[in-house]
Amino acid sequence: MSGYAPRVQWKRTDLKRAGFRAHTVLDFDGNSGAPISDPARFCWNLNTSRAGGRRSGAMSSCAPVFLLDGFGNTRLNGGIRHCMSEPLSKNIFWTQGKVTAEQRAHLSGHSGCVIWITGLSASGKSTIATELERELFSQGKFTYLLDGDNTRHGLCSDLGFSPEDRRENIRRVGEVVRLFADAGIICITAFISPYRSDREEARRIAPPGKFIEVFVNAPLEVCEHRDPKGLYARAHTGEIKEFTGVSAPYEPPVNPELELHTDKLSVAECVSAILAKLDQMSAIIDGAPAADGKKD
Ligand code: ADX
Repeated sequence: MSGYAPRVQWKRTDLKRAGFRAHTVLDFDGNSGAPISDPARFCWNLNTSRAGGRRSGAMSSCAPVFLLDGFGNTRLNGGIRHCMSEPLSKNIFWTQGKVTAEQRAHLSGHSGCVIWITGLSASGKSTIATELERELFSQGKFTYLLDGDNTRHGLCSDLGFSPEDRRENIRRVGEVVRLFADAGIICITAFISPYRSDREEARRIAPPGKFIEVFVNAPLEVCEHRDPKGLYARAHTGEIKEFTGVSAPYEPPVNPELELHTDKLSVAECVSAILAKLDQMSAIIDGAPAADGKKD
């Protein structure tokens, strides 16, 4: 039992060094799984193996599940877990599917990705997103659109606009789009997503290299002038609290893949710019490599 503290300590430091978010699950009921005798080798194994259909380079977004049994032995159980936060549940395991993202891409001719559109209310996110989806669909691509106003009617109907609720909103959406992208869908989102750290979390858990952040940048005055839903006016009278840009913050992206000034560009120009970006980053939705390693 005396071995607990030092073992927990080396797990955190070694995992940090190996580029993992260092969270560990400790359980004291003992369980099956491969005993881990050497932390360095354990990290090496994680870095060189595949898990959840992801390549080893993606491992920074994964966390290993540890069990400490009643004798202080460390065991790896359940392989690799992808998560944004520590699950409450214990005794849960990762089930590895038998169809990979690459195989899905072979079937559909393109892989999934996330086009994450962020910006103030009335900046043009939804308008661009719907036109973009229509265009991609007409090109024969598999697409799906998630919009803040819509998901707040269902998936996120229990959430308001406090910083905590917005974080949870984006966490849920980040998890959903991760699944969509893994399923081979070009998933477009239109959420204010005002906090940089929340957007970064969504990027972190998305399939590696398949997250395009699009900053729809319209000056606040322009958005207030547009005010299609009359929300800015109500925010200014104080009727709507914590309204982004008025009484709640918006943290602009520092280094988005694309920035669109919707006070100067038409919707069609914005859509073309995103399509051009997709072309430029063609690997992002290219079909999976053929068996001989060449593209189809
Ligand atoms: S987010 O901040 O959590 O990303 P989200 O994109 O889901 O927000 O929802 C934004 C939409 O909710 C806006 O387009 C607007 O129609 C509506 N809304 C209602 N109250 C607020 C508010 N306090 N702040 C921002 N948007 C609001």
